[in-house]
Amino acid sequence: MAGEPAANVRAEPGAGLKIPRHVGVIMDGNGRWAKMRGKRRTEGHVEGVKSLRGLVEHCINYGVGYLTVFSFSSENWSRPPDEVSFIFNLLRRFVASDLQRLIRNNVKVRIIGDRAGLDRSLVRLIDDVEDKTSANTGLTLVVAFNYGSKAEIVSAARHLAREVAAGRLAPDDIDETRLGDALYTAGLPDPDVIIRTSGEQRLSNFLLWQAAYAEFVFVDEHWPDFDEDSFVRVLEVYSQRDRRFGGIGATAI
Ligand code: FPP
Repeated sequence: MAGEPAANVRAEPGAGLKIPRHVGVIMDGNGRWAKMRGKRRTEGHVEGVKSLRGLVEHCINYGVGYLTVFSFSSENWSRPPDEVSFIFNLLRRFVASDLQRLIRNNVKVRIIGDRAGLDRSLVRLIDDVEDKTSANTGLTLVVAFNYGSKAEIVSAARHLAREVAAGRLAPDDIDETRLGDALYTAGLPDPDVIIRTSGEQRLSNFLLWQAAYAEFVFVDEHWPDFDEDSFVRVLEVYSQRDRRFGGIGATAI
């Protein structure tokens, strides 16, 4: 009937919700997810990759522009060596198995973190995936790997200090933009929302500078259980937040 939507027309995903431009995720709880099921921790990481694949798809469908995931922190080296090498191999396998799909889905991949601590073949792989997806214009997937935010800020400070020492920069010209441009995340917008799974409520050295005005949403599910419903619940919570960025907000005027 004219004027009435056809019964099989689905609402746009996320209709009525505020969609963050940039979502950051601390994918926590793989180990606990596995332990609860009597499995090895590494099996939790394998499931974690499936969740990540799902989230990339949801971000595309819901119109998120940037997704940054914390997949190996510079502090994770303190884990048993077997687990560390398993996570490294997961990154290799993720790139090998998903590269074509990412290209098809117009996803641009960027890997942030300290490359000096990675072996040469992994660095080549990372360069390759960035290169092969660099012309893509859809979702930007940022994988924080061997990443620590304090080290990132130290490295930016060193870079600026070298510029000053070389006479190319005056100390008073150092401002937030210049410092931001010296971070791994140069050119990316700051995250609007940071999600952490598995009930922990801390940042653990993730995007400390960039998260200055991010909304935090902590969810109880372990990362392998984080699905589309979980994502929509996060969007609902985010949509209710009054973001004031230090001002008084629209409702107060
Ligand atoms: C957190 O669970 C997960 C990690 C430290 C890293 C593994 C991340 C993934 C498998 C997702 C995708 C990875 C890549 C490389 C693309 P945890 O081990 O800290 O869990 P726990 O707190 O329960 O021990």
